[in-house]
Amino acid sequence: MWTKAGVGVLGLVLLAVLLFLALPPVGPQAGAAGPAQPIAFSHKLHAGQYRIDCQYCHSDARRSEYAGLPSVTRCMGCHKITAADTPEIKKLAEYLAKQEPIPWVRIYKVPEYVYFPHKPHVRAGVACQTCHGPVQTMDVVGAKTGQNLANDLLNLVGLAWTSTPLTMGWCVECHTARKATLECTTCHH
Ligand code: HEC
Ligand code: HEC
Ligand code: HEC
Ligand code: HEC
Ligand code: HEC
Repeated sequence: MWTKAGVGVLGLVLLAVLLFLALPPVGPQAGAAGPAQPIAFSHKLHAGQYRIDCQYCHSDARRSEYAGLPSVTRCMGCHKITAADTPEIKKLAEYLAKQEPIPWVRIYKVPEYVYFPHKPHVRAGVACQTCHGPVQTMDVVGAKTGQNLANDLLNLVGLAWTSTPLTMGWCVECHTARKATLECTTCHH
């Protein structure tokens, strides 16, 4: 008798957990481990849903050390019209009017004594996602996962992607596998 009731209760608890996880986020930061950004910019929307190419916005990646962030002008190329009357896009327009860059919070950073250039990696065909994870599923970069049921379930069973630690061991492991340089002075100079 009580076994049946036990399963029933367990079933209900599981259902409640699943429903809770499946609820839409209450705000751009909901459930995320990433930092609060000055504008609620979503990669899941832009790079995921609308499939805008990573390098359309991070256009320095293939030609310099840095990947770079898009200027306000680049955002406004679309947002002069798209969603122009929403609060977040009005904030964007204010930065443009003040001629000020958006103070985005930096996420990935190696120590000063390390030289990490994007260019050779992009040219060797290493995908952005190999190092930064499935950014196109993230509302907030640096969050462990994007907010959807599949990611939450993966997270529950411990299979979700977690941010790469950017350690020397991580660099060296891939350089060994890809027969890239292991010279100390290439990464430290
Ligand atoms: C429409 C423009 C746009 C597109 C497309 C875009 N990004 Fe971004 N990206 C941004 C902006 C703005 C930021 C800064 C705010 C933030 O962190 O969300 C950013 C931040 C990042 C960061 C964190 C930078 C840091 O501070 O360390 C990474 C990594 C990144 N993007 C990778 C990608 C990848 C990979 C893609 C393609 C799957 C992509 N981005 C597509 C605009 C874009
Ligand atoms: C290639 C076109 C394009 C570019 C470039 C672009 N966006 Fe968007 N953005 C969109 C589209 C499309 C939507 C969805 C609008 C909607 O749902 O009505 C959107 C939505 C948004 C929203 C949500 C607006 C709301 O409904 O509250 C924000 C915030 C945003 N973008 C910020 C940015 C920022 C910041 C940049 C520059 C880093 C940027 N976008 C660059 C096309 C673009
Ligand atoms: C081999 C690993 C690797 C690949 C591939 C890679 N990145 Fe990065 N990315 C890093 C590391 C490491 C940093 C921190 C660099 C630093 O602190 O100087 C970083 C920093 C960034 C930043 C913030 C600082 C900056 O350079 O502007 C952005 C944005 C970014 N990456 C986007 C991208 C995009 C977009 C791609 C694909 C076109 C990409 N990355 C490919 C490892 C990688
Ligand atoms: C996922 C694989 C991968 C990871 C992770 C990775 N690299 Fe690389 N790296 C490569 C490949 C592939 C090349 C290009 C080799 C070539 O062109 O022969 C490269 C090239 C380089 C170069 C240029 C070497 C030269 O001869 O000019 C530097 C510097 C570098 N990586 C530094 C780093 C640092 C620092 C890290 C960690 C923060 C890192 N890499 C992480 C794959 C990786
Ligand atoms: C492919 C890139 C790469 C190569 C090659 C490399 N390093 Fe590093 N090294 C890093 C990165 C990234 C860090 C910073 C992250 C960390 O401390 O793990 C680092 C950190 C260090 C540190 C500081 C560690 C600490 O705990 O403060 C020392 C010392 C160091 N490296 C020495 C070397 C020596 C010696 C060699 C050659 C045998 C070498 N590295 C080759 C990427 C590299």
